[in-house]
Amino acid sequence: KTKAFIFDLDGVIVDTAKYHYLAWQKIASQLGIDFTHEHNELLKGVSRVRSLEIILGLGNIEASQEDKDKWLVQKNEDYLGYITNMKEDEILEGVITVLRFLKANGQLIALGSASKNARPILEKVNILHYFDAIVDGNDVTNAKPDPEVFIRAAKLLGKTAEESIVFEDSVAGIQAANIAGMVSVGIGHKDILNEARYNFNDFTEIDNNFLQTLVNT
Ligand code: G6P
Ligand code: MG
Repeated sequence: KTKAFIFDLDGVIVDTAKYHYLAWQKIASQLGIDFTHEHNELLKGVSRVRSLEIILGLGNIEASQEDKDKWLVQKNEDYLGYITNMKEDEILEGVITVLRFLKANGQLIALGSASKNARPILEKVNILHYFDAIVDGNDVTNAKPDPEVFIRAAKLLGKTAEESIVFEDSVAGIQAANIAGMVSVGIGHKDILNEARYNFNDFTEIDNNFLQTLVNT
């Protein structure tokens, strides 16, 4: 059988979640908002605009559109600064092994990310060629947990939701996969991603047997 394997980017393929965190933390501290790692979980998988709204909400801050636009630009500039020199060594452990196994087995691979910076990152870390389809923040209007991003990815691969498997590190992303009716695989803490169908701490825990089972069932 051929299945659609859909990967989130930030925190799944590369460890850019830390860069998003640092860039948001700078904005938050400018505004006098205490922004913890726990708060940051709420932002994972969430669009840039929505992330700012959540942060402002934490500080009970109402801002003009002009200020919001300014902070959104600043956040992305800081983020771009962090990712400019990204190389292959920032691909998370075990990811390449999984991508290679899927490719060698003729499986279909897509990216399903909320980030508008997804393509340049895939290029920087030199794994663009593994992907048969890419859906990112430039292609969708509804952010996760809306399933739009994953449904589009599956459609581009010519597969149904039942034939699709999603790898995600965010609560919003797991919910999106579940709502779409896809198999959700949580990458990260099981207690945070408790809505996922399967849980792993990282890709080194995912073996060929497991992948083969996903293909066969
Ligand atoms: C991913 C990350 C989020 C980020 C979003 C938008 O989903 O997990 O933290 O806010 O992408 O990314 P962007 O690069 O477009 O700001
Ligand atoms: Mg993510």
